[in-house]
Amino acid sequence: MAASREHFGRLGVILALAGSAIGLGNIWRFPYMVGEYGGAAFIIVYLAFSFLISLPAFVAESIIGRRARKSTYDALETLAPGTPWKWLGLVAVAGAFIITSFYSVVGGWSLDFLARSVVRGFDPVHPEEAAGIFGLMTASGIEPLLAHALFLGFNCMIIVLGVKKGIGRFSKICMPLLFVLIVAMMFFSLSLPGAQAGLDYLLTPDFSRLTPRGIACALGQSFFSMSIGMGVVLTYSSYMKKSQNILGTSVLTLVFDVMFAIIAGFVVMPAVFSAGLAPEAGPSLVFEGIPYIFAQMSASSPLLGRTVAVAFFLTILIAAVTSEISMIEVSVSMLMERLGWTRRRATTAIFLAALLLGCWCSLRSGVFAFCDYVSSNWFMMLGALAFTVFVGWKMDRADVRDEFTNGGKLKLASALFSAFHFIIKYLLPPAILVIFLTNLL
Ligand code: PFF
Repeated sequence: MAASREHFGRLGVILALAGSAIGLGNIWRFPYMVGEYGGAAFIIVYLAFSFLISLPAFVAESIIGRRARKSTYDALETLAPGTPWKWLGLVAVAGAFIITSFYSVVGGWSLDFLARSVVRGFDPVHPEEAAGIFGLMTASGIEPLLAHALFLGFNCMIIVLGVKKGIGRFSKICMPLLFVLIVAMMFFSLSLPGAQAGLDYLLTPDFSRLTPRGIACALGQSFFSMSIGMGVVLTYSSYMKKSQNILGTSVLTLVFDVMFAIIAGFVVMPAVFSAGLAPEAGPSLVFEGIPYIFAQMSASSPLLGRTVAVAFFLTILIAAVTSEISMIEVSVSMLMERLGWTRRRATTAIFLAALLLGCWCSLRSGVFAFCDYVSSNWFMMLGALAFTVFVGWKMDRADVRDEFTNGGKLKLASALFSAFHFIIKYLLPPAILVIFLTNLL
């Protein structure tokens, strides 16, 4: 079977992994967390966690996938036959499925907002008077449900096309476009009157607002942003060629992801300050604050307001698609492997199931919040812990070294291997556990 396994091209895998990492987490979650937890103080902790904890965890998950060349459940069964490890794989797949569903609802909002920007622009409702994103969306009746179905359907069509022709090709076209769009938005945002206050806010650390919860959120956000612990990195890496450098690919993905999050901060915060909005508005920042800014802009210059709104929501939409497809692929590949289903059949099943759970999330804000909470704080942490313990304690050290160094061919990776293995074995599990417990308190 291994010979017929689909695989990515060299560039395809990097762009697909970066596509999974860069998503709503960077544009929607990261700026509001920076706003809530002390600006640059949060960014410093976030960067430290990303390089010290997320990077090794990402590499570990990647090693499992490429070693086994199987999807999440079967990968653990292949490397540790007859043990309960595969059930932890299943937990990761369940987590990925839950995120697939509610993430598609937010993807639907981006689609809806993009359509609104094209068709009629936004009404200037100040976020303080708005009903909250849920109020806003519920008031729109069937629209958000339709948008969710359309968004999910589009993603499933890419998945049906397969690994190289679907995921790989879409990522190759969209990732460069995404960077061009976000950089253009940044220059625009920085040119707004009063943008300097937003910059100061991002660049001045306020450690008094960085609570223990904020520190735990920084790791949670870093895992979420790097798509760690959900089997995404594992599944994509199972399509990676043996000649590809795992460490190099992981570092590149991290650098792209962190850069994108910080640039997104430079897009959102200057605009928020320029419009006199509160930076700590939370999740509604992007979907209420930003449309208000566009509406204000349109009052003086309709064409400019519309154009910027289209560019902004197109950026969010593309970022959401490249992440959503990675999550769908986790469940689809497992169904294909476990049940022998065709790609089309497995994708249809996931489409229907995610459509239902997503509609429930869309109609009930409590269900949405619960899905977001359990997937990011429970499933993701558990998945990350399971994969790191598996690589550190269960897998043969020689096999781990073989994947990490490509059989000793990679000089730098060979020099770094002992340090990597030590971190995975002794430092990461307790660090993840502490953060996991802090999240529960
Ligand atoms: N990394 C994506 C983002 O930042 O939006 C979200 C994500 C994708 C989370 C895939 C988890 C996952 F398995």
